[in-house]
Amino acid sequence: MHLLTGVTGLSGSIVVREFARQAVPVRVLVRDPDAAPWLRELPNVQVVRGDMTVAESLTAAFDGIDRALMISSPRGDMVRTQCRFIDAAAAAGVRHIVKFSGKESGTTFDPQAFRGTRWHLEIENYLENSGLAWTHLRPSQFMQLYLPGTLTGVDAKRRALVMPIGQSRLAPVDIADIARVAVAMMGADGIEGRAFDMTGPEALTMSEITDRISAATGRAFGYEEVTLERKRALHTAEGLPPEVVDLLEEIYRGRYASPESQVNLSTHHEFGVEPTSFADFARRHAADFTAEAAA
Ligand SMILES: NC(=O)c1ccc[n+]([C@@H]2O[C@H](COP(=O)([O-])OP(=O)(O)OC[C@H]3O[C@@H](n4cnc5c(N)ncnc54)[C@H](OP(=O)(O)O)[C@@H]3O)[C@@H](O)[C@H]2O)c1
Repeated sequence: MHLLTGVTGLSGSIVVREFARQAVPVRVLVRDPDAAPWLRELPNVQVVRGDMTVAESLTAAFDGIDRALMISSPRGDMVRTQCRFIDAAAAAGVRHIVKFSGKESGTTFDPQAFRGTRWHLEIENYLENSGLAWTHLRPSQFMQLYLPGTLTGVDAKRRALVMPIGQSRLAPVDIADIARVAVAMMGADGIEGRAFDMTGPEALTMSEITDRISAATGRAFGYEEVTLERKRALHTAEGLPPEVVDLLEEIYRGRYASPESQVNLSTHHEFGVEPTSFADFARRHAADFTAEAAA
C-alpha cells in the first residue's frame, strides 16, 4: 500500500483520481476529511486523518506503508511541513519517499534565485540525508495555471493573459501527465536515488499559448504584456498578500531574464506516458476557459 499526501490540492486531487481511475489502491492523508467528501467516493482510496507536521497524528497513516508520495502547498511553510513529515516517516519505518518537487524549464537562470526552487532543493537535500530511500519528481510549471481563476491564469473577462515576461518561452506540463507518471512511478522498481525532471512537449511564448486557447475555444484570447510594476499592482488589487506578490514577482523576473526553455520528455518516455500538448489541454478545458468569460 502507498500513501499520498496533498490530495485535496491542485495537483494532488488529479493524482489521486488517476490512482482511482487505474484501480491502484492507495491510502491518503488528509487534515480534514469532512472538507473533501468526494475522496470517499473514489474506489480503492482509503482516507486517513492526519497533519504532516504532527508526528503523533501520523501513526495510522504510516501503518504498513512502504512508499509515500509527499505533496504539500508551495507556501512559506513547505520546508518545515515536508521536513517534519520526513522525520515522522523515518521514525515510523517507512522505507521510501517520493518527493513531489518542481523545476523551472528555463535554461539560463540561477535556480537558487527562486525561493520556491530553493525550498524544493533544501527539502530534497534533507530527504537525501534522512536515511530513507528517495526519489524526486520535478515537474515544470503546470498547464493548469493558465486556467481562469488561478493566480496566474487568463483574465477570462478580458480574454487576455496579462504577464510581464516578454517573449520568454515556458514548457508547461499537464498535471494529468504528472499523475499518470506518479501512478507508474509508485509501482516501479529501480527509482530510488533518482531525480525525474519533466516538462510539457513544447516551449511556448505567452502569445503562442493564447493562440492555442483561441483555437480551442473559438474566441479571441490575446497576450497583454505589462510591466512588473503593473502586474504587482494588479495582484495587490486582487487582494494577494505581499509575500505572495513578492514570490510571483521573483518568478516573473526570472522568467523574463531566461527567454528560452528546455523541453524534457525523458520522464514521460520512461514511464510510457504520452505527452499532452497545450492545444490538447486547451481543447479539454475549452469550457473552463470560456465559462467565466461568458459570466
Ligand atoms: N504551480 C506549479 O506550476 C508547480 C510546478 C511544479 C511543482 N509544483 C509544486 O507542487 C506542489 C503542490 O502544489 P499544489 O499547487 O498542488 O498545492 P496546493 O493546491 O496548495 O495543495 C497542497 C496540499 O497539501 C496539503 N497540505 C498542506 N499542508 C499540510 C499538512 N500540514 N498536513 C497535511 N496536508 C497538508 C493541503 O491540504 P489542505 O486541504 O488540508 O490544506 C493540500 O491538499 C508544491 O510543492 C509546488 O511547489 C508546483
